[in-house]
Amino acid sequence: MTDTSFQPRVFSGIQPSGDLHLGNYLGALKRFADAQNQGVESIYCMVDLHAITVWQDPRDLRHSTRELCAGFIASGIDPEKSILINQSQVPEHAQLAWIFNCVARIGWMNRMTQFKDKAGKNAEKASLGLYAYPSLMAADILVYHATHVPVGEDQKQHLELTRDIATKFNHDYGVDFFPITEPVIEGTATRVMSLRDGSKKMSKSDPSDMSRINLTDNADTIARKIRKAKTDAEPLPESIDGLDDRPEARNLVNIYAALTDRTQQQVIDEFAGKQFGQFKPALADIAVERMSPITTEMARLMDDPAEIDRILTRGATRAREITAPILRKTYDIVGMVGATA
Ligand code: TYM
Repeated sequence: MTDTSFQPRVFSGIQPSGDLHLGNYLGALKRFADAQNQGVESIYCMVDLHAITVWQDPRDLRHSTRELCAGFIASGIDPEKSILINQSQVPEHAQLAWIFNCVARIGWMNRMTQFKDKAGKNAEKASLGLYAYPSLMAADILVYHATHVPVGEDQKQHLELTRDIATKFNHDYGVDFFPITEPVIEGTATRVMSLRDGSKKMSKSDPSDMSRINLTDNADTIARKIRKAKTDAEPLPESIDGLDDRPEARNLVNIYAALTDRTQQQVIDEFAGKQFGQFKPALADIAVERMSPITTEMARLMDDPAEIDRILTRGATRAREITAPILRKTYDIVGMVGATA
């Protein structure tokens, strides 16, 4: 349950580690933009410190961070209404993460499935940062006293850990200082799947570019990827139950529903009994119609990287008005000399 003594505040982050894809757009960016006018203070973060938990070429990282910022703005996030930052310009994130490294238990970290997936069989060779990743993520959220975190399904475990860290900190120090954050995992696209395999999530780390639609893909590429998406031989069913055991069909229906702000049932009602030969071109048209303006706007914004940098610097100044007092108070609670709350 959310602690009602904290004012509502939204925080979410995306890694600048390669191209944004349709899963990031539908699972995160579009939802951020849709929620923007609800009057809740919102902070959105390019988590560059998280990105370097696996190797990043410095030039690529700079480019990806700016491109991600362009992606946020092109998706409809207004940098005046919301606060847009890159993590490394707000040092309180990393400072609070250290405190949380001393609160979180190794046993908790050992249960993180994302670490196991990313480290693979050779966990001994993974960076220490990759292991401590969820502790920094908890700090991202809690250094703002954020109450709501909109994310895709894959981040659920990390958000549970964030709640565990807040609970243990409050308990150990006998305070009610950090809120117990609410994950917001809603809508038809909380888990967009690969276009090549309906049992795997769409991901930037999938070696096949055909498995995902990138926000930088042009209209022809988007249409081709949808045409070639894996499906089965059956027509679309009459009811949602008919999508059980048909992960690829379900995925395409979900994508269509999310892109058009409709429910699965409404999509099924329109396409029941139709073959993929008819459904896929309709989906491709919608995808191109919705994505192309974003791609074009991203490219336009990337023509002026200095303006993007100014937006991020201004965002950091605004963010630190929130984070600096919370970090100071945390240090004071922990017993650091010189920290006056
Ligand atoms: P990242 O960069 O992997 O993904 C960014 C956001 O996109 C969502 N997402 C998806 N949603 C639906 N279907 C998919 N196939 C899909 N793939 C990705 C993710 O759930 C996420 O919401 N650890 C985070 C970044 C992070 C963060 C935070 C998020 C760091 N600090 C604090 C929230 C709050 C990550 O790696 O997301």
